[in-house]
Amino acid sequence: MDEQTLRSGYGSHLLTRIEKAEAALAASGLEAMVLHAGTPLRYHADDMEAPFRPNPHFAHWTPLPGPYHLLVVRPGRRPRLIRVAPEDYWYEQTPLGDPFWAADYEIVEVADETAAWREAAPGAGWAYVGDAPARAAAAGVPEDGLNPAELVARLDWDRSYKTAYEVACIEEAGRLAGLGHEAARRAFLAGASELEIHHAYVRAAGCVDAGLPYESIVATDGKGAILHYTGKRTAPAERVLLIDSGATFLGYASDVTRTWLRGDDPDPVFRDLVAGMDALEQELCAMVAPGLPYPELQFAAHRKLADLLFGLGVIRLGGEAAAEAGLTAPFMPHGVGHFLGIQTHDVSGRQAAPEGGEVPPPAAHPFLRTTRTIEEGQVFTIEPGCYFIEMLLRPYREGEQKDQFDWSLIERLAPWGGVRIEDDLLATAYGSRNLTRPTNPAWPG
Ligand code: GLY
Ligand code: MN
Ligand code: MN
Repeated sequence: MDEQTLRSGYGSHLLTRIEKAEAALAASGLEAMVLHAGTPLRYHADDMEAPFRPNPHFAHWTPLPGPYHLLVVRPGRRPRLIRVAPEDYWYEQTPLGDPFWAADYEIVEVADETAAWREAAPGAGWAYVGDAPARAAAAGVPEDGLNPAELVARLDWDRSYKTAYEVACIEEAGRLAGLGHEAARRAFLAGASELEIHHAYVRAAGCVDAGLPYESIVATDGKGAILHYTGKRTAPAERVLLIDSGATFLGYASDVTRTWLRGDDPDPVFRDLVAGMDALEQELCAMVAPGLPYPELQFAAHRKLADLLFGLGVIRLGGEAAAEAGLTAPFMPHGVGHFLGIQTHDVSGRQAAPEGGEVPPPAAHPFLRTTRTIEEGQVFTIEPGCYFIEMLLRPYREGEQKDQFDWSLIERLAPWGGVRIEDDLLATAYGSRNLTRPTNPAWPG
């Protein structure tokens, strides 16, 4: 994305942030807030730190990397960014320069955290949002202003409506993931191991592992049935690849899954299952439109999966009846998607109202992260899957419904693990835009 596009897009993003923050503060009876970039996480009894990730409430305003910075937001004033830039010869010293996002801030540079808090000078009516409430209290933030629930809920709620700038960042993160996925697919078809496929991915996406939004899942054959498999084996040349891997751009994530087959068919029924899941996923994407309660996508995924498995002979009942009877439950034990943004599993998918509260998922779908009704400007994933997970199938083998399954076909398919197809969608006024598929030239056909 070119600098000019970023600058103009960011200008209006910042205006939106200021407007929404002022409204959230007023509604919460607060006068100002300090957003903290955060404190590095140090491993226990070690001098090493985990890769730093900024507080998403801070990252919602600025992509400035690194810990400790404070952003002071006070209605009627320019946002004041207190940048902590220590003199430290152990680390690269990076002058701020003139980044595209900085023009409308008042920026102060200090050498350490103590000086940053002195600059912020919080007082009565102020709130703090971050990981170090004790530090904020010591600096003068009142007790009831430390991560106050209503303000945080309102900020979370605002994060579910993406500005054009945020959509552009997520789309760019999707494009980078597309480069990685295409390289991964080629490596897989050429006989690469899981580890080599992962290396091909990060090389093409142009990042190090810590720059990924989540650890990549590069699962060949049966390991596709381990939902969060992160081992990366060096054995070459398996037949099925399930790869779930994203990328980041200016702090925003993409989250994409593809399932590929290599060489001779692992099994013609499994091949049909992969093709069927790809079509099913696109049918779900086509359903996305403002006004649709997101759980309807979950129910539709199970109905469609029932029809697919019935058509392939895996189960002996299709459609609504099969889904109602729970026959698809062991095959797709996760939610069909989640909000996406600064966090891969972005906030507020189950939030009831701007001021807070939760709409729980339907009882039969406890892992569904999104119970909101779809609205323009939301970005979320659609990621139906179908897996052969023995620990979930076991109760059905001897249960009342055992005759509803073709167990010998399931034995035949289980070595190939599973299928998941995942795209990132923006809900638009009349429907949706797939940010990780048709408009993206980097995506494999
Ligand atoms: N990669 C994590 C997820 O798909 O939710
Ligand atoms: Mn996902
Ligand atoms: Mn994913």
